[in-house]
Amino acid sequence: MKANKKLGQFFTDKKIANIMVKWVTQNSPETLLDPAVGAGVFLKAADKKIKKYACEIDDNIIKNFALYNMDWELFENDYLLQNFPFKFDAVVCNPPYNKFQQIKNRSEYIKILKEKYNVSLSGYSNLCVYFLIKSINELNTNGRCCYLVPYEFLNTGYGEKIKEYFLKTGVVDTILKFNSGLKLFDDAITTSCILFIENKKHKGINFLCIDSLNDIENFNLDKQKKTENNVFTDYQKLKSEEKWLKYFFDYKSNNIYFNQYNDDFVPFSAIAQVKRGIATGNNHFFTLNSSLINQYHLSSEVCLPCICKSPDVSDLFFTSDTFNELLNKDKKIYLFNGANAVTNSDFNYIKYGEENNVDKSYLTSHRNPWFAIENKEPSPIWISVFSRNKLKIIRNKTSVKNLTTFHGIHFKKNVSEEMINMMFCYLITPAAQNMLYMNKREYGNGLDKFEPNDLNNAYIINLNKIKESEKKEILNIYSELQLNQNTEKYINELNNIFLSYIKF
Ligand SMILES: C[S@@+](CC[C@H](N)C(=O)[O-])C[C@H]1O[C@@H](n2cnc3c(N)ncnc32)[C@H](O)[C@@H]1O
Repeated sequence: MKANKKLGQFFTDKKIANIMVKWVTQNSPETLLDPAVGAGVFLKAADKKIKKYACEIDDNIIKNFALYNMDWELFENDYLLQNFPFKFDAVVCNPPYNKFQQIKNRSEYIKILKEKYNVSLSGYSNLCVYFLIKSINELNTNGRCCYLVPYEFLNTGYGEKIKEYFLKTGVVDTILKFNSGLKLFDDAITTSCILFIENKKHKGINFLCIDSLNDIENFNLDKQKKTENNVFTDYQKLKSEEKWLKYFFDYKSNNIYFNQYNDDFVPFSAIAQVKRGIATGNNHFFTLNSSLINQYHLSSEVCLPCICKSPDVSDLFFTSDTFNELLNKDKKIYLFNGANAVTNSDFNYIKYGEENNVDKSYLTSHRNPWFAIENKEPSPIWISVFSRNKLKIIRNKTSVKNLTTFHGIHFKKNVSEEMINMMFCYLITPAAQNMLYMNKREYGNGLDKFEPNDLNNAYIINLNKIKESEKKEILNIYSELQLNQNTEKYINELNNIFLSYIKF
């Protein structure tokens, strides 16, 4: 049978239905209701001894019931308008999720909910919320109810009323969230959670997360509640106007929990893009020191200041003084950029490169002209590509560029200088590095490597969340760091500040 989207027909996976039915019938209920029965996946999964009831509005589905060998009493009616002369021991439902604006009878529904249950919902609500409130009110004391719904309501405006209702009644035991990678339904519905409700007052809500359906057949709610996938949150702490998705910890690594709905942590890419440095295709030819520049009489136009080797930089700050020191030591700190050639000597150097087949390497032969250096902006923070236990982080205070020995951190346009300095202060701390290290690639021999995207996808703390007073303190330490040789003391101080923002 083809699903009728207008009636919110999305049919439940049998394995999911089994979990829900198993839980609502755990205490051997006498009666069980499915308010939106569809093809009856829930009721079929329930024990024959239970007296079953169902509602269904769709004539097509009802006509087909004869085929299903149904063992339930069917109310061929709109559930929201159906009056039952008794309450139920258990309710299980995958309700229609239509937006309320699309519903013809909505003023009638609003009236019923207000009059019968004293709940006023806005016109922007969702039909599933009406189903849910009615079902909760139709439960006997200690009766159980399980609803499969999209989890958006936990974070949206229209969800506020239902959350308010949950807080008032305390009936929710667990919200089981399926991580977004798990697509349980077809295109229309992307997120889903199961609400486990019992008609009594609970102390708090279990925010439980699942990211694999592998073991779904052996799923046991009581056992799951005891695992680290569960976050028990006291009702008294919860507020209806708050977003509740943040209570789920859905990304765990090395004892640090991140939550994509909680902006305490953000991916690196939220404020900056980590990009690899300049690749030349032949460092022997392209990197220059002053002796080579003098030897080949190269003009200043073709000499692009660039840090070529990571060991050349040992301090936290790279300044024009550092550059001059390297220059005096005759270190290779320039790149030959043939695209700017002006003098005969510059062109002779290009010819010299061709005579030595520099133009034939993979990179140079794919570049036009082969002797032009790729155009990369200098970046204010460098981060070493290879490391051993500790990432080398350099605050570049010059417009000197970098070869691939470092990745460059390129901040988004709206990121202030202060924020860049804060980010630098953060990155040099063990607190930050431990988090970044979760995304490292082992390179053998204790050598670790980071590709730019390993860092872009790594999590950092949300620097916007740092308190004003601590921001000041961090920036003061930043100034001290620039003046002082004894950096360890300051890094420790920074580490203590940032650690307080990380939950271990
Ligand atoms: C999301 S489907 C779920 C069907 C089935 N219980 C399952 O899980 O596979 C919702 C069902 O509710 C029915 N329905 C929609 N609005 C209804 C209403 N106001 N009263 C009763 N049933 C309704 C639809 O026809 C559809 O069969």
